[in-house]
Amino acid sequence: MAQTEEYSAPVKLGLIGAGLAFKRLHLPALTALKGYFRITAVCDIAPETLSESTRLAADLNKANFGEESEIRTYSGYRELLQDNEVEAVLISLPIHLNAEVMQDAALAGKHLICEKPLASNLAQGRKLAPVLESLAATKGLAIEIAENYHYRPELAIARRWAFEEKLLGEVVIITAQNFVRMDTSQGYAATAWRIDNQYRGGILMDGGIHYIAMLRRLAGEVEQVHAFARHMHKTATSSPDTISINLRFRSGTLGNMIYTGASPNLLPPRDQPDCIIYGTQGQIQLSKKNDARLLLQAFDAWQPTGFKEAQYWAAETSSYYEEFLNFYEAIRFGKPVLASPTECLHDLELMCAALDSAEERAVKLL
Ligand SMILES: NC(=O)c1ccc[n+]([C@@H]2O[C@H](COP(=O)([O-])OP(=O)(O)OC[C@H]3O[C@@H](n4cnc5c(N)ncnc54)[C@H](O)[C@@H]3O)[C@@H](O)[C@H]2O)c1
Repeated sequence: MAQTEEYSAPVKLGLIGAGLAFKRLHLPALTALKGYFRITAVCDIAPETLSESTRLAADLNKANFGEESEIRTYSGYRELLQDNEVEAVLISLPIHLNAEVMQDAALAGKHLICEKPLASNLAQGRKLAPVLESLAATKGLAIEIAENYHYRPELAIARRWAFEEKLLGEVVIITAQNFVRMDTSQGYAATAWRIDNQYRGGILMDGGIHYIAMLRRLAGEVEQVHAFARHMHKTATSSPDTISINLRFRSGTLGNMIYTGASPNLLPPRDQPDCIIYGTQGQIQLSKKNDARLLLQAFDAWQPTGFKEAQYWAAETSSYYEEFLNFYEAIRFGKPVLASPTECLHDLELMCAALDSAEERAVKLL
């Protein structure tokens, strides 16, 4: 398609919920994507957050476009959805509110990118995903779930090395682990809606779902899941906060995932990769700390170190940058959305199967 002025024009973006995720995660990505998005409206029910984030949005517009711009502010999202100066919305509300607002935004004809998970529970997700897909098709909308782990740039490379080029021989098992600092005195863990969570799974759904997305993106669909869970940090959430999940992928590869928010002091060993793919002839270590990077090591038992060769790869962009780039290209060029509602419904299904397994003490088939 020819690149007309309209096609390369910035997308006029409205924010619905402009708290920590916007300030810490989205703002740096929108800054790096210089000129792709212009924020035209902000909605938040907290007056202080509304004014602070509107100021940050104005600074972003000034940096990107070199001029002052008008940003309309709203305390009710339905009014923002009526604003003709808003083409697309970025929804970052407490998890239990995202689903309804997504549907209303799509019905109002706005392209939308909404924070993960897709929904508060499986029943809601199963109803919502087809509605969003159908609105996307009939109204020509880009609808994306901001599950940034689907966009970790190193995952596509690791998947290619391991499963297409078979640089590790046969993949045997993939392990993933993450330890979150559940410090309820500040930051994410201090938000009231996380402590009194009105969605299934607490921190496991909020943060653990990223690792589910990562494992699916690396190794495909899962056919069996078995999990054990514990609830350790009673003041941080009313749900289990620690889970150990065993997986069998349809390909035969096995998987194991550990995720915990049990304590602010429970930390992994320094520089430990958050995922390792083990094959019969080598391994790939994935790390997301500092810069996203991969280390591939091919085994050779006859070498003194046990490793024959190493190959490094480091990402130049962040997963947040990539998710907004996909959103822009979906709106302006009709590119497919990677983290579609259907894709993220599969993440939700797997997370819920793991939670069911832990509750019912049973192996679940998918
Ligand atoms: N992808 C990631 O790495 C990541 C990290 C953190 C959070 N998130 C996601 O981002 C979303 C928001 O999380 P957060 O940490 O920014 O929470 P937050 O509490 O900091 O922000 C939510 C904002 O929504 C506002 N709000 C609440 N109800 C509203 C309403 N009815 N209308 C308008 N505004 C309303 C609140 O005032 C608050 O400012 C969640 O879905 C969460 O899962 C994603």
